Amino acid sequence: MNYLDRNEFNYAPSQEVVEALKNFDINKLCFYTRIYDEGKKSILSVYLSESYGIDEPQVLLGYGGEDILKQAVHYFLTQEDGNKTMLIPKFSWWYYKSIADEVNGRTLQYPLYEDGNTFKYDFAAMKEMVQRENPKVLLIASPNNPTGNGLTPAELDALLAELPVTTIVLVDEAYASFVSTDTDYIKMLVDKYPNLIISRTLSKFYGLPGLRMGFGFMSKELASFGKYSNKYLGYNRISEDIAIAALKSDAHYRNIARLMNESRACFEAEIGTLPGFKVYESVANFVLIKYPIVLKERLQKAFADEDYKVKFMNEPDINTHLRITLGRPEQNRIVIDTIKKIALQ
Ligand SMILES: Cc1ncc(COP(=O)(O)O)c(C=O)c1O
Repeated sequence: MNYLDRNEFNYAPSQEVVEALKNFDINKLCFYTRIYDEGKKSILSVYLSESYGIDEPQVLLGYGGEDILKQAVHYFLTQEDGNKTMLIPKFSWWYYKSIADEVNGRTLQYPLYEDGNTFKYDFAAMKEMVQRENPKVLLIASPNNPTGNGLTPAELDALLAELPVTTIVLVDEAYASFVSTDTDYIKMLVDKYPNLIISRTLSKFYGLPGLRMGFGFMSKELASFGKYSNKYLGYNRISEDIAIAALKSDAHYRNIARLMNESRACFEAEIGTLPGFKVYESVANFVLIKYPIVLKERLQKAFADEDYKVKFMNEPDINTHLRITLGRPEQNRIVIDTIKKIALQ
């Protein structure tokens, strides 16, 4: 089966990652890390602190990005002030609402609008909604799944400048490494604002969803959340080594992202021009495609016949859409040909 439905990684890990696993000293598993004695949480948080230029106590680690998001939402929606409201994008990862529901949170959706072949955030509407609803958490996904649009650092800065500091701005940047290598804005923004958390992961750009390793950065004013999030006895020591090896082999993953972009261009040229189809602009490891709904069953069957799993969206107002993970070039070719065969029948 070819899995192109969950934005996973259909390529090989870097050689450094392979070596890190091969050379892992098994005896390390017989002991907890001692780095906590130095007031640090992990060799990984130390590495991230150095490479992002952000103090180690402001680095967060989690069991995937999902865990960092869950920790933050659970923590901030259960504070003494009783404010249980979180704003999330209208079309977004289903999981955001689900983690708020787990603590009886109240989730409201702010709009995203379609503009040509992109989706966009409506900053005015977001600000207006924050003023009206006074949420505890404003969750922004950048780039957003499934719409593929995001905010530039300047847009995020401008938005933060106008929001009350009592609203925690939680930015899910699971796919952000596909957008740019620039990470300097993270330090600039967590230093400038007291209410910011940025969540990232090894699962997407670094292709290790099975590693379950996420990381993030937060304003130093949120130290009590950092304390809540920390694991006193440390983190998985195999995962720490592999994560560092992946972060060090950026060039391998940058090259794969380039191949993905070449395939994306094929989707745009070959699928975007089919009658009734639209390929949205995106800066992640997936493409979002609008298709004529009458073709749904035939497309489903054609993909099943080829042994391919892609994601047929079902959410309101985004239910004539397919989200397809960019796989290897030969897989992408089969996907494109499968769609063309049905569309041109
Ligand atoms: C928007 C978004 N955020 C976060 C994640 C979290 O992934 P992980 O927990 O593997 O880091 C995903 C996974 O699909 C995602 O789509």
